[in-house]
Amino acid sequence: MSTTHIPVLLQEVLTYLQPEPNQSFIDGTVGQGGHAEALLERVLPEVRQTVRYLAIDRDASNLAVAKDRLSRFGASVVSVHDRYANVKACAYAHHFTAVDGILLDLGFSSIHVDDPSRGFSFRSDGPLDMRYDVSGGLTAADIVNTWSEDELARAFRQYGEETKARDVAKAIIARRKKRPFERTLELSECVQKVVPKRGQIHPATRVFQALRIAVNDELGELTRALPDLVDLLRPGGRLAIITFHSLEDRIVKTFMKERLDLRVLTRHAIKPSIMEVRENPRARSAKLRVAEKIS
Ligand SMILES: C[S@@+](CC[C@H](N)C(=O)[O-])C[C@H]1O[C@@H](n2cnc3c(N)ncnc32)[C@H](O)[C@@H]1O
Repeated sequence: MSTTHIPVLLQEVLTYLQPEPNQSFIDGTVGQGGHAEALLERVLPEVRQTVRYLAIDRDASNLAVAKDRLSRFGASVVSVHDRYANVKACAYAHHFTAVDGILLDLGFSSIHVDDPSRGFSFRSDGPLDMRYDVSGGLTAADIVNTWSEDELARAFRQYGEETKARDVAKAIIARRKKRPFERTLELSECVQKVVPKRGQIHPATRVFQALRIAVNDELGELTRALPDLVDLLRPGGRLAIITFHSLEDRIVKTFMKERLDLRVLTRHAIKPSIMEVRENPRARSAKLRVAEKIS
C-alpha cells in the first residue's frame, strides 16, 4: 500500500501534542496515518504500549493504509471507519474518555486528488463522485443533476466563494437538460465556459471545492463535532485543528474564542513555512489552531 500524503505542519503538531506514557489521543481524520505515526514514534519504544490512539477516518481506503502503517504500534492503536462527527460514540465504544490530545487535519488527502476514480480532480477525468465514504450518500453528480438553480448558486457562493455562482448554476442547468453530468471533465469544461481564468488558479477550483464541501457536509461535520471534542478532553488536554480554507478556519477560531473552558494557545493561526510550502504545495493554505481545556 502506498503512502503518498505528506502530513502538513508536522513539527508544529508534534510541539503541541507531545505524547507522554499512559496518555491517550484521538485522531478524527487519521488519513494515511502520517501525523499519527510521527506522534507515536515520539514515545520511547519500551513505553509505547501505554499510549492509546483512536484513529478515525471516513475513507476506508485511507484508513486501511493507516492501519497497516500503524500496525507496528500494536493494540495501542484502535482504528474506526466512521465520520468524526460521531466521535463521542466511537470514543465511548473503545473507552477513550478524558483524553490528552485530539487532532483534526481537515479536508481531502493527496490520494483523493491524485486518483481520478475518486472524482475530486478537475484536471483528470473520472466519475463525478467526491465522497470520502463511498459506501453511501449523495455524489457530486447527484447534486449537480438534481439541485435547483438557487441551491447550486447558494452552494457555489457559500462554500466556494465563487463570484460567478449564479452564472455557473445557470450553465449547469442548461447543460444537464441535454444530458446529465457523469464525469469530472464534463463539469470542469462547463464551468470554464462561464468562469474566467484568474491568475494561476484553475477556473473550476472554487466550484469543485464547493461541491466537495456539500457532498461531505464538511462544515456541518465540524460544527457538530467541536463541542463533543471538548467534552472528550481532560482538563489540560489539547485540541489541535488544521484547516485549509477560510470557512473552516472561521468556525474553529470563533469556537475556540467563545468557549470559556478553552484557553487558546495559538494567538494567531500557525501557517507553514516557505520551505514547507515549496516541498509540499498542498500545505500553502493550511492553518493550525490549538486550544487547551482549562476546567
Ligand atoms: C488531510 S487528510 C489527513 C491526513 C493525515 N493527518 C496524515 O498525516 O496522513 C484528511 C482525512 O480526513 C478524512 N475525512 C474528511 N472528512 C472526514 C470526516 N467527517 N470524518 C472522518 N474523516 C474525514 C479524509 O478521508 C482524509 O483521509
